[in-house]
Amino acid sequence: MSFDSATSLAGLWDSLLPIGRDDSTGGYRRFSWTPEDQQCRAWFTSAAAERGLRTHSDRNGNLWAWWDWPDSSPGPASAADAAGGSGPSGSGVSPEGTVPPRAGAAGGSGPSGSGVSPGGTVAPRAGTVVTGSHLDSVPDGGAFDGPLGVVSAFAAIDLLRSRGFAPARPVAVAAFCEEEGARFGVACLGSRLLTGAITPDAARAQRDVNGISLAEAMAAAGHDPEGIGPDEDLLASIGAYVELHIEQGRALADLDCAIGIAEGIWPHGRWRLDFTGRADHAGTAALAGRHDPMLPYAAAVLAARQAAAANGTLATFGKVIAEPGGANAVCSTVTAWLDARGPQETALRATVDEVLAAAERAAGLHGVTVAVRPESITPPVTFDPGLRERVAASLGARGITAPVLPTGAGHDAGVLSALLPAAMLFVRNPSGVSHAPAEHAAAADCAAGVEALAAVLQDLAG
Ligand code: GLV
Ligand code: MN
Ligand code: MN
Repeated sequence: MSFDSATSLAGLWDSLLPIGRDDSTGGYRRFSWTPEDQQCRAWFTSAAAERGLRTHSDRNGNLWAWWDWPDSSPGPASAADAAGGSGPSGSGVSPEGTVPPRAGAAGGSGPSGSGVSPGGTVAPRAGTVVTGSHLDSVPDGGAFDGPLGVVSAFAAIDLLRSRGFAPARPVAVAAFCEEEGARFGVACLGSRLLTGAITPDAARAQRDVNGISLAEAMAAAGHDPEGIGPDEDLLASIGAYVELHIEQGRALADLDCAIGIAEGIWPHGRWRLDFTGRADHAGTAALAGRHDPMLPYAAAVLAARQAAAANGTLATFGKVIAEPGGANAVCSTVTAWLDARGPQETALRATVDEVLAAAERAAGLHGVTVAVRPESITPPVTFDPGLRERVAASLGARGITAPVLPTGAGHDAGVLSALLPAAMLFVRNPSGVSHAPAEHAAAADCAAGVEALAAVLQDLAG
């Protein structure tokens, strides 16, 4: 029976689609450690179980599903080897040279066969080829950002199995927690914790808009927050991470290509600005006597647009909370978040400096204080050139033309790339829109994405 990757994809997609969807907007509200998140996690576990994959929630709440290799011998090769050591570039090492030697790092020391100990804990094995993405969303996000990578990972495994492919290295599907930072402010929180890019104490202390800390939210969802932090063994077991993601622009549509390969990620970050003024009556407080925090906030918004245009960057205020929030009152505080990104760190820095200077200047003029806190800073990422070339070669061998593109969007692959070879595939999004319900990829392009991912997994894990 011939296998139709679109069929497998459609079944997975349809079962995930209703979770966390807001009927009034058509957008998704899948925030970490909420009931919707728990439903996504249950979906992941069930999709894995249907495929006989062993699942595990790591100490940080990231989900993993392992496709074991068929024999019970230890891992056959080092992770660097799996990631590109034998590929066209042969390096398997990032340009920064930060990839540690992985040969025998986990040593194939896990229990034979399953990778899961009798106690249910996982002893990961060296050279694992990991693919996946995330299941959380921004407020009213699109259906594809994150889920497409997880669904495609399972569908690619289905496709490879249908072709009789037996991996020589373990393959795993991952779904990382709180990638969007929509609830706790720090983007890619799950992968940052895994890699040690944020300390457990700092992560536990992050609070959502209702004042609930990450530690409290995890505990309420049944996950022990005391256990969070870097996981050396798990990291050491990963030979390569390949994340498929919907494109978050329309370069592929303009190039008439269904699939792209990521070159790197712009440096970007998120800054929280707390403007504090004095609440007063909108109908009686004279303009001259007001301490209105809305005014320096407005100045910051305009400065962001000007600074971004002047520096060739992007700057956005997409979230603002005015309190106490009476329509007939001067508010006492305005809390706003600046998201800024750019192709170079210097231009990004200049943009942020100009916005913050404008905010402080206007705050001074209006008798308001402003406190600034960086919440989530991500340095520039250049994906491992050796792995990227190998991915391109895998696709090229199957006649897939895939242009190499930079992106201004953040991804767990970018965080992981600081410690191990990572790569990304993009699937065409003709709408060019993302982080919004209009985000879209055609079914045929999603199927092409599964084919492309399967080709890469077959090469890396074969
Ligand atoms: C993640 O999608 C981000 O770039 O904010
Ligand atoms: Mn996103
Ligand atoms: Mn994403």
